[in-house]
Amino acid sequence: MSKLIKIFDTTLRDGEQSPGCSMNTKEKLEVADRLQKLGVDVIEAGFAISSPGDFQCVKSIADTIRDSSICSLARCLPKDIDAAYEAIKGAAAPRIHVFLATSPVHMEYKLKMTPEQVLQSVDYHVRYAKAKCSDIEFSAEDATRSDPEFLAKVVDTAIRAGATTVNIPDTVGYTTPDEMKDLIRFLREKVPGCEDIDLSVHCHNDLGMATANSLSGVLGGATQIECCVNGIGERAGNAALEEVVMALKVRGALFDAYTNIDTKQIYKTSQKVYSIIGQTASRTKPIVGKNAFAHESGIHQHGVLANKKTYEIMTPESVGIMTNEMVLGKHSGKHAFEAHLKEMGYDLTTEELSACFEEFKKLCDKKKEVTDRDIEALVNHGDNQLEQTADMYRFDRFDVHAGNFSTPTSVVRLKKGDQTFEEVALGDGPINASFEAINKIVNPPEHSFENFSIQSVSEGNDTLGDVLVTLKHNGKDFKGRGLSTDIIESSIMAYINAINRLIACSRTEQDKGEGVL
Ligand code: KIV
Ligand code: ZN
Repeated sequence: MSKLIKIFDTTLRDGEQSPGCSMNTKEKLEVADRLQKLGVDVIEAGFAISSPGDFQCVKSIADTIRDSSICSLARCLPKDIDAAYEAIKGAAAPRIHVFLATSPVHMEYKLKMTPEQVLQSVDYHVRYAKAKCSDIEFSAEDATRSDPEFLAKVVDTAIRAGATTVNIPDTVGYTTPDEMKDLIRFLREKVPGCEDIDLSVHCHNDLGMATANSLSGVLGGATQIECCVNGIGERAGNAALEEVVMALKVRGALFDAYTNIDTKQIYKTSQKVYSIIGQTASRTKPIVGKNAFAHESGIHQHGVLANKKTYEIMTPESVGIMTNEMVLGKHSGKHAFEAHLKEMGYDLTTEELSACFEEFKKLCDKKKEVTDRDIEALVNHGDNQLEQTADMYRFDRFDVHAGNFSTPTSVVRLKKGDQTFEEVALGDGPINASFEAINKIVNPPEHSFENFSIQSVSEGNDTLGDVLVTLKHNGKDFKGRGLSTDIIESSIMAYINAINRLIACSRTEQDKGEGVL
């Protein structure tokens, strides 16, 4: 009989801890909500002990999300387990995830512990966690470079101490599909308690084998896969959720397995995560890349026209990619707009809907065809906005003069409360000149300019330009997005959003006496 493979999503922990992927609490809550709608079984919401901010964030997710288990990571230390439990105890289904390394190199050089001490620590800390929470996961970090006989003892110890899931991570992305299958099968056969628990795999992608290794784990008997949306994560990332889930769906008969994932939510979830971390999928990214369902060559197009099954193993609709183009126009009313958003899977609050509808109407005046991709960008952009307060700068207008024979000049006007500020500046180009004019007005705290990216939202030369600016201040990233059919305007809006975030944070630091200005 087909078996359920649980999907454990660690986008908010392993994914978020990779450079350039940090998220604030509001963003993490939005992702958690998407993951819940996607149907993931477990959401690893963070590492509660790592900072007061992380603790609060895990707690907010645990207190809000009702349909997925919420889990926090903890080292084999009572204070970590206490923090994890305090953060997740309000969840509908709380889980503590305890881990300890088991490979010779980690035990000797990182932990400075003997194998015997590692076994004792696993026993003690899994029991300690079990006394607080019935659902306990234990991970044997660097399992795939551990001695299999020793690993079997660790798994046995964890199960006897009360672990309900034991995870076998390929921490450094070293293993191969055959090895992973054999290792899981070996543990299933060797450790008697294995049939009563979930054996899990957690694969990193250093050699590009994370998806294959995870699926091979299933063939060996794993019943849980740990993964991240879009495959984000440490170094080359974790196994991509959308890849493992769709492989299990498309090849369900081969794997004799299924998941609880509503695959129609995949694309929306992927877009949400990309939009928050300010990245986009490479064109050829499986499942969610722009080319994933495009058939460019004549032979392929011919085949697809004759019968889609010639070159299409899954439909774009099955992952929630809408294929209808022109959707609504300038004469569409708010009700039609709301109904269409619902059809696309977005349920906005009254205020969000009004703001989004206003932006939609403005866009209709500028763009011939407003597509679902545009609407999606407007919704995600609305989510990314800071709540406006009186002490924040708001963009009002700009005027640029630029050419390849003249020095680019920009005049920018901003508002703050009921005050108006205007400055003019020169620059290397019109965008740089505009940023300089903003700097003259705002005089922002010292920062470095980390990244500037611009993406077109849809096809056509009247497309929306989605700009992401990342600034760094005191080791922290401050991101701002701007969306407009005019890329100078979207750049200015993105820069102001990032500057507002930076100012708000440095004000808090000052209040705490950290004196960053
Ligand atoms: O990669 C890894 O080993 C981990 C563990 C903490 C599960 O992320
Ligand atoms: Zn990991």
